[in-house]
Amino acid sequence: MKPLFYSLLMLNFLQKNIWMCIGIVSVVTFFSFCKHALTETEKKPESHQPAVTYSNPYFKGTREDRIAQVEKITKLFGVECSYCHNEDLTVFTEEGEVSKKMMAASVALGVDCDYCHVDGKHYTEKENQAKKMFELCETMATGCDFCHAGKDQLTPKGAQAKTAFVTRDWVTKGTKQCLECHIEKKQFALNFYGWQVLNAMKGLKGM
Ligand code: HEC
Ligand code: HEC
Ligand code: HEC
Ligand code: HEC
Repeated sequence: MKPLFYSLLMLNFLQKNIWMCIGIVSVVTFFSFCKHALTETEKKPESHQPAVTYSNPYFKGTREDRIAQVEKITKLFGVECSYCHNEDLTVFTEEGEVSKKMMAASVALGVDCDYCHVDGKHYTEKENQAKKMFELCETMATGCDFCHAGKDQLTPKGAQAKTAFVTRDWVTKGTKQCLECHIEKKQFALNFYGWQVLNAMKGLKGM
């Protein structure tokens, strides 16, 4: 019967000291809340890490050079900075995310945005070729730098692709046909048939 006895004792104590109990509970809650609020503010800078890398190879030179670069983009597209990101560079819009990929493309091709963009709505004559290239990269999961190594420069793989483009009339027939021998999203890795073709080629060369 001991637990019952203690419960009754406790109840009796609560009845007599109800205001004191409420007081203690409020004080404890208040302090734990303060502590919570404090740790929240302490944590804040951590969760607020800029999403920007500051190592984007698109940007070159001094701070002033870099500001000139972003101002050039902003003027070209006829927009505000907030079209792509907030002031702290912590939040990027959809256009901002696209622009990250566009910067990588520009670096690989050794050009700037105005190579393809006339303004926010119009494109240069490079539009169609560029669109096909973006599709190709999507299908094969490569970056532009898989084949492009700066202005008018191709990587060795790019040179191989150039032959494939020409022999397979890629411009009109597109990328799907490449999947006859290459695995989708595997950066031009060969499938079983592709290996057979490769071995046949080696055989022809007597390797
Ligand atoms: C069309 C989209 C776009 C516009 C407009 C734009 N930015 Fe950016 N900005 C970007 C992207 C994308 C990055 C690179 C983010 C990354 O690499 O993570 C960037 C990076 C930066 C950086 C970091 C540069 C570095 O050295 O790494 C600064 C500073 C910056 N922007 C300021 C501005 C200011 C100021 C404006 C307005 C005058 C502006 N941006 C307009 C897309 C844009
Ligand atoms: C090689 C050509 C090329 C270059 C260089 C290029 N772009 Fe693009 N960009 C395109 C194409 C093509 C599209 C349309 C993609 C689509 O619709 O599939 C596009 C789309 C975009 C979009 C999305 C537009 C929309 O209406 O949603 C943004 C933003 C953009 N580019 C920003 C940039 C920035 C910033 C640069 C320079 C750092 C740049 N681009 C460089 C070809 C290029
Ligand atoms: C699998 C290889 C490959 C990949 C990946 C690739 N390209 Fe290309 N690209 C080529 C080849 C080959 C040519 C033709 C070059 C030539 O005729 O000398 C070319 C030509 C171009 C051209 C026309 C040439 C010019 O400067 O006028 C543009 C624009 C272009 N590529 C943009 C891109 C963009 C943007 C990406 C990334 C989204 C990309 N390419 C990814 C292989 C590739
Ligand atoms: C009939 C089979 C076949 C088709 C179709 C084909 N390829 Fe290939 N491709 C090969 C073979 C085999 C190799 C390996 C050649 C070698 O290593 O010498 C290769 C290699 C490549 C490479 C180099 C890859 C690397 O990592 O070194 C690229 C890039 C490439 N092909 C692009 C293309 C493109 C683009 C298309 C579509 C327009 C295409 N190929 C269609 C058989 C094919």
